Amino acid sequence: MLLIKDSWREKGFVDEPIPEGIDLKSEIRRMAEEKNAVIMAHYYVSGEIQDLADFVGDSLALAQQAAKTDADIIVMCGVHFMGETNKILCPEKTVLVPDLNATCSLAESCEAGEFGKFVNAHPGYTVISYVNTTAATKAVTDVVVTSGNARQIVESLPEDEKIIFGPDQNLGNYINSITGRSMLLWNGACHVHEKFSLEKILALKDQHPEAKILVHPECKGPVVRVADKVGSTAALLKFAIQDDAKEFIVATESGILHEMQKRCPEKTFIPAPPNDSTCACNECNYMKLVTMEKLYNCLRYEWPQVDVDPEIAERAIRPINRMLEISRQLGL
Ligand code: 13P
Ligand code: SF4
Repeated sequence: MLLIKDSWREKGFVDEPIPEGIDLKSEIRRMAEEKNAVIMAHYYVSGEIQDLADFVGDSLALAQQAAKTDADIIVMCGVHFMGETNKILCPEKTVLVPDLNATCSLAESCEAGEFGKFVNAHPGYTVISYVNTTAATKAVTDVVVTSGNARQIVESLPEDEKIIFGPDQNLGNYINSITGRSMLLWNGACHVHEKFSLEKILALKDQHPEAKILVHPECKGPVVRVADKVGSTAALLKFAIQDDAKEFIVATESGILHEMQKRCPEKTFIPAPPNDSTCACNECNYMKLVTMEKLYNCLRYEWPQVDVDPEIAERAIRPINRMLEISRQLGL
């Protein structure tokens, strides 16, 4: 039994030096086979981690995959709410995240107690929460959505249904605009997607007039409105693969460019820049906390584990299962 040091607990990850001379990639794969662990990764983590994962996907696909895995251990290379969703879906399994500090500004913009008060102040409303929320916020939700199924799930509800949508205001505004609904929106946002600069995107479009603009719906309205395609990371990837264009300006976290370039080596992908820096790409500092070294130590020590209070998990599983069931019925 390997003991977890207090200093590691304080830091939120295993801070053990990596033994010299080891091949991290093959050691991680070896431990994963030995321990019957599945390594799942979101498109925003580094390319080398995506390449060694058993499964890479968007938030919807990662939840669907967790729900059906027969591994004993799930290693979620992504942010904390993704690990929580996995733990809620698979309470009997060990769920690991390489760094507990990998949170999400959007999830943090919707504190469960405050959101609960907002919900209580609006009786008779159906509560839809984006998957980028904590387990406690999901516990006061009727149905969870991701950017990959939000439109279809909203449209599956009766037209006159009164709906609260949280926490992402940009996604909520976008869904309102394409469905004609007037959902009541929580005022949350993602610090990465809010930062895309319309001016810089239009300047890039001037330089690359044939390029198609791909935009994640967490971006602000003016950026969404210039898009050729708005969608989840998986939907943007699919569009890039299937579309005839040779160049794409990509307004979402720049980790997705790795898979886009891999799947379409003959096409050019240009990251859309943020408004506040000279750097060309826009990275999620939380996703980038996941490193090969932390992944190695996390598998080795089977720590940090994600735990969800059983009482919260019991309430949060219902809206997650409702999302998975509607998505299954709709073939998503
Ligand atoms: P996807 O649902 O497209 O994977 O997006 C998740 C996310 O965190 C976006 O910022
Ligand atoms: Fe959260 Fe934004 Fe990072 Fe996605 S990109 S994980 S929404 S902080």
